[in-house]
Amino acid sequence: MKALVLAGGTGSRLRPFTHTSAKQLLPIANRPVVHYALQAIADAGIEEVGVVVGHHGDDVRRAVGDGSAFGLSIAYLNQPRPLGLAHAVAVARPFLADDDFLLYLGDNHLEDGVAGFVRRAAAQRDAARLLLTPVPDPTAFGVAEVDDDGVVRRLEEKPERPRSDLALVGVYAFTPAVHEAVRAIRPSGRGELEITHAVQWMIDRGLRVRAETTTRPWRDTGSVEDLLEANRHVLDRMEGRVDGKVDPHSVLVGRVRIADGAVVRGSRIVGPVVVGAGTVINNSSVGPYTAIAEDCRIEDSAIEFSVLLQGACVEGAARIERSLIGREAVVTAAPRPPQAHRLVLGDHSKVQLTS
Ligand code: TTP
Repeated sequence: MKALVLAGGTGSRLRPFTHTSAKQLLPIANRPVVHYALQAIADAGIEEVGVVVGHHGDDVRRAVGDGSAFGLSIAYLNQPRPLGLAHAVAVARPFLADDDFLLYLGDNHLEDGVAGFVRRAAAQRDAARLLLTPVPDPTAFGVAEVDDDGVVRRLEEKPERPRSDLALVGVYAFTPAVHEAVRAIRPSGRGELEITHAVQWMIDRGLRVRAETTTRPWRDTGSVEDLLEANRHVLDRMEGRVDGKVDPHSVLVGRVRIADGAVVRGSRIVGPVVVGAGTVINNSSVGPYTAIAEDCRIEDSAIEFSVLLQGACVEGAARIERSLIGREAVVTAAPRPPQAHRLVLGDHSKVQLTS
């Protein structure tokens, strides 16, 4: 079996980050989201992987390489425009040839991997196999209607009146039967070739599509809230370890990971927290549930439940929480209590003011 990882797309919900890089490279616990997908694929025993990339393809190539770090052999497949998940499968057809494959959305994070799913898909070899999970509000997802034997009867994309609470998780197993379906379907109302339509096409032609349900943690990291949640989950399972320098005036509580080359002075860090190499934390309070990438600077500030990307700087911020702060972004205190807020914001930035 091969794997196809989708690392293109528009990423409109993660603007402005997706103006400058791929959303699949945003970090969870200081590691790009797509690394977790590739690790899960390697752990499932798959070796040949196609990674579909879009206009940030060069960034993805740089961050992932040839796959040898994961024990994988990776081919990059360029999708000229993000015309849908089924379109990405069509783009990958020459790579996939007539092999079965695992389709893995590169911005999805499954805490328990996909080894069991892949094993069962290979053993049963239905035309397609879906992974589902119960969600409180199915209207935001692809939703499946499944009979008592686990056979999928119907799929609906973001239904107003869902017939079940079972949402599609971003991994699918396909036999080559999917390629005829992908060729047959037409673009949806939003102009995309939908993978749900391709699967429904297969069901309508009498091909067997089976589903299995998981209640294990899964997250689509396509929005800031979901990325912060995925970060929280992964940090919760991380071991503490201090390789960097922590001065005697600092206190570390719980599981804190400080990389070699990071420096903590006069600060209190409440885990779970991860701090990247080259980062300096001075006279601040950090955590819990915070991931600080490499080469950041935190000075006279308090920050919790947040993710900072490489080179970010926070200075004199009384309290920051639930925030995602981009590469080389600078947050500073206003010199006096502000009469007015002064902002330099890029396109699609989002700021919440307290007054
Ligand atoms: P989505 O998150 O559904 O789509 P998107 O990237 O366009 O995001 P948004 O809705 O915020 O604009 O895509 C799921 C995964 O598939 C994600 O990793 C991006 C990838 N993808 C492609 O590789 N090609 C595509 O044509 C599309 C639509 C998505």
